[in-house]
Amino acid sequence: MAVSATLAVNEAVDRARRAGRSVLPLGFGEAGLPVHPALRERLAGAAGANSYGPVAGIEALREAAAGYWQRRGLPTGAEQVVAGPGSKPLLYGLLGALDGDVALPRPSWVSYAAQATMLHHRPRFVDTTPGQGGVPDPFALAALAGAARREGRPLRSVVLTLPDNPTGTLADRDRVAGVCAVAREHDLVIISDEIYRDLVHDPAAPYVSPAELAPERTVITTGLSKNLALGGWRLGVTRLPGSVIGEQLRGHLLDIASEVWSSPPHPVQAVAAWAFTEPEVLRDHLDASRRLHGTVARAVAEVFADAGAEVAGPAGGFYLYPDLEAHRDVLAARWGVTDGHGLARVLLEELDVATLPGAAFGDHAGALRLRVATSLLYGPDDLRRQTTLMDDAPLRLPWVRDGIGQLERALARLVGRG
Ligand SMILES: Cc1ncc(COP(=O)(O)O)c(C=O)c1O
Repeated sequence: MAVSATLAVNEAVDRARRAGRSVLPLGFGEAGLPVHPALRERLAGAAGANSYGPVAGIEALREAAAGYWQRRGLPTGAEQVVAGPGSKPLLYGLLGALDGDVALPRPSWVSYAAQATMLHHRPRFVDTTPGQGGVPDPFALAALAGAARREGRPLRSVVLTLPDNPTGTLADRDRVAGVCAVAREHDLVIISDEIYRDLVHDPAAPYVSPAELAPERTVITTGLSKNLALGGWRLGVTRLPGSVIGEQLRGHLLDIASEVWSSPPHPVQAVAAWAFTEPEVLRDHLDASRRLHGTVARAVAEVFADAGAEVAGPAGGFYLYPDLEAHRDVLAARWGVTDGHGLARVLLEELDVATLPGAAFGDHAGALRLRVATSLLYGPDDLRRQTTLMDDAPLRLPWVRDGIGQLERALARLVGRG
């Protein structure tokens, strides 16, 4: 397996910086915000928790996570919850427990397809439409499921990302309902990756989880990496359906977990048990984070749109997925660029802007699409990131303004306007 594309771009940026270049880091999808002091304190207080603990996670955490989902309209018992060291290993365990091929949105987060391949399942991409990222087109999914069945290699699951990485969009109710209907008809388990759910920019925007529409077959994964910017603490949780499918999956998942990671990090679980009760201090922190992600993502989307890219308005998280198809001729003539990899390479090597090509997310290689992460514009260190988080007008801060200015100039040169 190659190093995950998102981690590889981070390393490429470090190398370029060591060589003295000032590279704009729009490749790596990290939340880019400091740890809330209350979380730090609690982690320090829990440092003595050095036993492994239960494979599924400690009771207090599983109960708190159940409460988190209950507050979102999903009746959940603690026995339906399994915690792990990040949602990524939980996803791997779930895909391992579900023996069969998996339908994925095109584009979708890099690790789904890589994990499926590692497990000898076929990742089967199904196109999405702009503005409806993270959820396959239901008609195309039905066609694929039918064809796979006729081939004698039926699909076993479909993964959705709500809201989506890489596109930053949130699919609507019709799309989600359409996929639920197809999943029922073809007996697919739906894995709904909702790790960005609490970072939907507009808290009043309607949010529909497939667990509301197809509760018997939907597994949800989430964690603390994005909403509370705790990626390095490694804590994720999954909500299994309260059904026969759910019970079977839980058994297989715990078998895998017990042989691979034993249990999630105990001190981090103690903090997560508190965080999932959503105390007011963390809710305020999350509101500020959500506002900042939305403000900066929209500003960067405007920069791409002004440079002539097609880009769906961001709805959640800190990503954009611009399409430079309108500049295909100029990009070929000026830079010899004919595909997404070439585009990302020129941006990094000639114009000092790190992004990822859509192809890293399973998109068509020839597409001139990029995944742009906007959260490392908040500053290079905790002090500036915290200042950015607290500021009412973050776009006016010099380091944010400089980053956006650097992007404007790079795009102007890219498309021959500068
Ligand atoms: C869509 C998506 N799912 C899951 C993850 C992994 O998160 P965790 O840190 O919980 O393993 C990421 C992280 O980049 C992500 O973007």
